[in-house]
Amino acid sequence: MAMKEPENYILSIDQGTTSTRAIIFDHNGRKVIESDKPVPQYYPETGWVEQDANEIWNSVLSVIALAMIDGGVHPENIKGIGISNQRETTVIWDRKTGLPIYHAIGWQSKQTNSIARKLIDEGYEDLVHSHTGLVIDSYFSATKIRWILDHVEGAQERAEKGELCFGTIDSWLIWRLSGGKLHVTDYTNASRTMLFNITDLCWDPEMLKMLNIPESMLPEVHSSSEVYGTTENYEFYGEQVPIAGVAGDQQAALVGQMAFEPGMIKNTYGDGAFIVMNTGDKPQFSKNNLLTTIAYDINGKLKYALEGSIFVAGSAISWLADELKIIDNVPQSRQAAMKSTNNDEVYVVPAFNGLGAPYWDQDAQGAVFGLTRGSNREDFVKATLQSVAYQTRDIIETMEKDTGMKIPEILADGGASRNRYLMQFQADILSINIKRAADEDTSAMGAAFLAGLAIGFWNDLSEITKIHENGRLFEPNMEEKRRTRLYKGWQNAVAATRLFKV
Ligand code: G3P
Repeated sequence: MAMKEPENYILSIDQGTTSTRAIIFDHNGRKVIESDKPVPQYYPETGWVEQDANEIWNSVLSVIALAMIDGGVHPENIKGIGISNQRETTVIWDRKTGLPIYHAIGWQSKQTNSIARKLIDEGYEDLVHSHTGLVIDSYFSATKIRWILDHVEGAQERAEKGELCFGTIDSWLIWRLSGGKLHVTDYTNASRTMLFNITDLCWDPEMLKMLNIPESMLPEVHSSSEVYGTTENYEFYGEQVPIAGVAGDQQAALVGQMAFEPGMIKNTYGDGAFIVMNTGDKPQFSKNNLLTTIAYDINGKLKYALEGSIFVAGSAISWLADELKIIDNVPQSRQAAMKSTNNDEVYVVPAFNGLGAPYWDQDAQGAVFGLTRGSNREDFVKATLQSVAYQTRDIIETMEKDTGMKIPEILADGGASRNRYLMQFQADILSINIKRAADEDTSAMGAAFLAGLAIGFWNDLSEITKIHENGRLFEPNMEEKRRTRLYKGWQNAVAATRLFKV
């Protein structure tokens, strides 16, 4: 009897803010096995968020090992690796030793606010926006690089001598997987650094000059789907596996949602929430503080996107469990919200790390409004869930203003999209359909598609599109009058939050 040929797979590494996942996909785009591991964050001072790049790397090694052992998958059957990563988080390491010279500075960290403020005061806003598509904010990598070069003794000089490498997490992981041979990134990640010219597709000399960052420390920039190189065999069980797909996690989710047509929008409800709209071949520069960013580049076809970033979404629900302890765990938030009988007059504005799009107020702090003697735990939980939907509406309305389009639906994914109360309220407050992905791991799936396309595991986008499974649909069901009243209350709450100063 003929032996059955062993199946081949794509390994996707999804390195997120709070956890690292490895997911192995088969040719039908189905998950064969997944494993994950939490990654610690450090808060050395108020508002600072740091991570240990070596802990991140070790978490990647362990999730890969776990997935392969639990799934009984042999390393030689992994035909390609795709990476989807938390974006903007900044690592600087020594080119010779591979050792980071400082902790990774997290995307949410506020330790570089004063550098960003200085650039704004010096009048750089228009230049930065027209070259990079971004607003000046401590969110992006550029000010984080400047901070590390300023705070680690001798770092500027070493960088100028070519002794240091900068990378977002994708670059760092590829460097490690390739045994220090590859110092690369892709367009999507480069477009989040505030150093990349998104029209000319190169590191921008004016941005580098503005922050005195030596170009020699920056990675080579590539498309999102090509063979960048292979794993070093001692880093991957003796195998040289092509590393063939890379995208920042939010762009990878757009690919995983198969939002390949202009006008298609996805919202990933994770710790933060990131709303990304495919805008096609040309960058559209927002007049209302949305970000213009690179969506992906597959087969020489580069697509742009508009993005609205919400800094605190699912992490506000975790805050209810971990800090306030008014729910035991995140899934309980749904039951609590359903039990609330108030008339939605409580508003929580979770501006824990300032406010992202469309406000870009890096100094705003969280606030609660509308409490009465009768307000209870359930009302508070419900208001926190609603804050995620209200922030999404802020961005969707801004996208409609910028593009002149009426947005018909949102493709939803991410951990918090499992919350049916949130999804229904989202449909209600926006009065549009919300289509939740059948599988919430769209970022990992997107990275797998990018890698699989590069190595011919899948032939083209149409083959991938056939794999798509429909998830659940949430349709709006709220009276217009109520919808308007509730949203007006939210806008008042945000305005009042922004006035508050300690
Ligand atoms: O821009 C930050 C974003 O990429 C983080 O995503 O999923 O790790 O919270 P996540």
